[in-house]
Amino acid sequence: MDVPSREFVLAGSLEELKAKGRLVLHGGHRPILVIYDRGQVFALDNRCPHMGFPLERGSIEDGILTCHWHHARFDLESGCTFDLWADDVPIFPVELRDCEVWVKSGFGDADPAAHWHQRLADGLAHNLGLVIAKAVHGQLAADVPFADIVRQVALFGAQNRDGWGVGLTILTALANLLPVLPEEEAYLALFHGARRMAADCDGEAPRRERAPLGSRPDSAALKRWLQRWTTVRHREAAERTLLTAIAAGLSPAVLADALVAAVTERAFADAGHSLDFINKAFECLDLIGWEHAPTVLPTVVGQMVAARGAEESTAWRQPVDLVALCHEAASELPKLFAAGCSAHGWSDHAALAQELLGDEPVRIIDALKAAICAGAAPADLSRSLAYGAALRVARFGTANEHSDWETAHHVFTYANAIDQMLKRIGTANGHDAVRGVLHGAMALYLTRYLNVPPARIPGERDERLDDLPADVDSIRAALLDAFDRQRQVDLAARLVARHLKLGHSPQALIATLARALLREDAGFHAYQMLEAGVRQFIVWGNTDEGRHILIAVARYLAAHSPTERAALQTADIARRLMRGGELHQEEGASS
Ligand code: FES
Repeated sequence: MDVPSREFVLAGSLEELKAKGRLVLHGGHRPILVIYDRGQVFALDNRCPHMGFPLERGSIEDGILTCHWHHARFDLESGCTFDLWADDVPIFPVELRDCEVWVKSGFGDADPAAHWHQRLADGLAHNLGLVIAKAVHGQLAADVPFADIVRQVALFGAQNRDGWGVGLTILTALANLLPVLPEEEAYLALFHGARRMAADCDGEAPRRERAPLGSRPDSAALKRWLQRWTTVRHREAAERTLLTAIAAGLSPAVLADALVAAVTERAFADAGHSLDFINKAFECLDLIGWEHAPTVLPTVVGQMVAARGAEESTAWRQPVDLVALCHEAASELPKLFAAGCSAHGWSDHAALAQELLGDEPVRIIDALKAAICAGAAPADLSRSLAYGAALRVARFGTANEHSDWETAHHVFTYANAIDQMLKRIGTANGHDAVRGVLHGAMALYLTRYLNVPPARIPGERDERLDDLPADVDSIRAALLDAFDRQRQVDLAARLVARHLKLGHSPQALIATLARALLREDAGFHAYQMLEAGVRQFIVWGNTDEGRHILIAVARYLAAHSPTERAALQTADIARRLMRGGELHQEEGASS
């Protein structure tokens, strides 16, 4: 990394520089190119900021330096580029002392955190992957906390597109994983989150702010209004209502209850994405600070009110009217929870999950009702739902169409989202949000064909998997090797089972799965899958159920690997440029 220095070093005599036109100082942190042009002396990093090609081999005309690799052009005096994708070249102070040329060799900025903050802003604004990668690397090297980087990127995303999008979801999902990631994967996670945010906002109209109402109705009225405006698809009214609730200082739990009540006015809206995005917006605020709620939370409203509900889908109406079943069960919730409130210690999560995977929708609803009567809290139901949905992925038959992985994925990430929201809401805010579990259970029921026939889950009972490696490093290498090849779904599952059955650290396995994901040009769903899987694994720990969940994650990731890994290439280039040294010589590239 850049190290501040006040030292000037002798580059050579002015006569020599005039005669040769350019000199290169080697040694130290990185090579410096010293140029004599039209009576002036300039000093720049000799490594092109794009990919490190030696700028000494470039050409100079009319004060413009052109790199001869991809022909990026730079203002010789300032180092600023005319081609934003290439980034600016660092320049260095020059002094002429008695016909000698002295160059200040230090590359450090007085305030590196501020410098890289601005460069990240530039990279986001112009969707420049290499600049984003360098800026993330630079901020991390300057000890900028993860949360500060996430906040900068999240606020950029909230303000530069008209509504929550995949960029904000990916950023939040990856930011949630940061505490369990090794240093290298943390850099990649922040880079992917930022680059996807920039891409998501590229060419989009910025968001226009609305204002809260001048009055402060009570929370019950605001909740009712939010439901009403969602039902009639009145975005402006819904946003102003939500902003009023925020301005009134309602707690995150109360806000969560109001938004889940509104989004569940439609069943499994937009294949579960609406509720998932709402959950992610709450998690984003947990990460960056709730003082940003007026900026972040209203971004989910546009999609929420416009979402298409499952009640418009034939599959939810014929041959069984699943929407009517959910309505009827929802009307019974107050009575059911009242009946169950005297019972304590309900813990049949795994058994309920198996019932949720059944073939009879009425029996599935009855199982949920019975669990409530037996003392299950809302978040117990959603925990069972999430585990059942993970089993759907873990048992996904590879004879299905490849696109059906996404069908299974949608239910799992939705189930994780309603689980997180119900935990946040708690039990003090009524039971409207439990409708989300009923909808999720019916969505899970409708995907039962994905497990016909079911894939076998490895490591069950006494299966030892002794044909596979045994030590942690060998299992990691074998897993990453499996992800290097297509259609290694079952091998990836067996290696995950092997790792956990041998009692190796789950954290090491999660780090390997994160590595497998973060080196790919992954799709939006893959990030959701890993994060939801890790969240649910943490609930269960290294149990049979926890193992099934990570097997589900590994199978999904293996089904979507490998990709071209272009983003990893960008991240590697940025890291090598930031590290210093003579990049071109290291790579052995030819001119
Ligand atoms: S333009 Fe210089 S290395 Fe690409």
